[in-house]
Amino acid sequence: MDTVVHVPLGDRAYDVIIGQGLLPRAGALIAPLLARPRVAIITDETVAALHLPALQAGLGAAGIASSALALPAGEATKGWPQFARAVDWLLAERIERRDMVVALGGGVIGDLAGFAAAVLRRGVRFVQVPTSLLAQVDSSVGGKTGINSTHGKNLIGAFHQPSLVLADIDTLTTLSERDLIAGYGEVAKYGLLGDADFFQWLEGNTASIRARDPAALLQAVRRSVAMKAEIVVRDETEQGDRMLLNLGHTFCHALESATGYSDRLLHGEGVAIGCALAFDLSARLGLCPQEDPSRVAAHLAAMGAKVRLADIAGDLPDADALLDLMAQDKKVQDGRLTFILARRIGQAFVTRDVPRDVVRAVLAEALEARQDRRNPV
Ligand code: GLY
Repeated sequence: MDTVVHVPLGDRAYDVIIGQGLLPRAGALIAPLLARPRVAIITDETVAALHLPALQAGLGAAGIASSALALPAGEATKGWPQFARAVDWLLAERIERRDMVVALGGGVIGDLAGFAAAVLRRGVRFVQVPTSLLAQVDSSVGGKTGINSTHGKNLIGAFHQPSLVLADIDTLTTLSERDLIAGYGEVAKYGLLGDADFFQWLEGNTASIRARDPAALLQAVRRSVAMKAEIVVRDETEQGDRMLLNLGHTFCHALESATGYSDRLLHGEGVAIGCALAFDLSARLGLCPQEDPSRVAAHLAAMGAKVRLADIAGDLPDADALLDLMAQDKKVQDGRLTFILARRIGQAFVTRDVPRDVVRAVLAEALEARQDRRNPV
């Protein structure tokens, strides 16, 4: 049974359909949106091997012709060269203003294909078909599209809402354990930032989610998407409330930068560690109950997520260097860092009022604990 989360954004409103067996039914679901029975699919080589035949068969069953471009898999694709290739390919495919681009893949493909659609002929529509947990619960919904620059991640882009999102949870069965758990960092984030009951439900369903039980995955994705939709509708272009979705991300971006955006630390892994640090910081500032950070860490660890700096392989810079990396975050305003802190689990808020010394102390303590774990006496 499909679940539909509607994103009511006026003339840019759309549905997020969450369910099983959506790829084989994609043609029937997309057909009502098309001006002519033809779409261009952008995907990556890994996802193409796993899911492109099912999607193309599903489109074909509804009489929709499709062509596909498979880019190399991985974060390195999300830059100017592959973006230019995608846009030129869409033009060569004669994709017109009223046509539809389909993004089949994880966050890299969704962001890049969405941005290509945003600029192609000054904007064509696109459908997100997210195949990773991270993309299903976060990046495919809300219209953030873009690519990375040598100056940082996601610095080039546009807000361009999709016309439809098809989150087929069957695609999650082909994810590696590491990718599934990394995506889970974003799921836990929703409970932590705004729904204590959901967090409690996640605590009680850790084993089913890890075992990829379809009912548990469906509920986790549905609640995450519903929360994201509510926030995006309140603040589409991130002037205020949408920043709540960045819980854990100020720490995460510094750690991703310190690890060279490599597979030493996947984005979702950094989000999980960042959420744990945000609760450590909130407790140190006396904002949230002292027991909340351990509850957060215990749940993330039960899920198999990375939780502590000790979970990151290789060297890390010291607390001051990490603070400097945080200062390059794109959420810096007038030189002041934005933090998402919490009054308790399920009650996050945005603040620019965090003394640098306290952040340094939290980082220094986390780095020290890392050393202790690596060199036990
Ligand atoms: N990924 C955070 C947002 O969409 O705002």
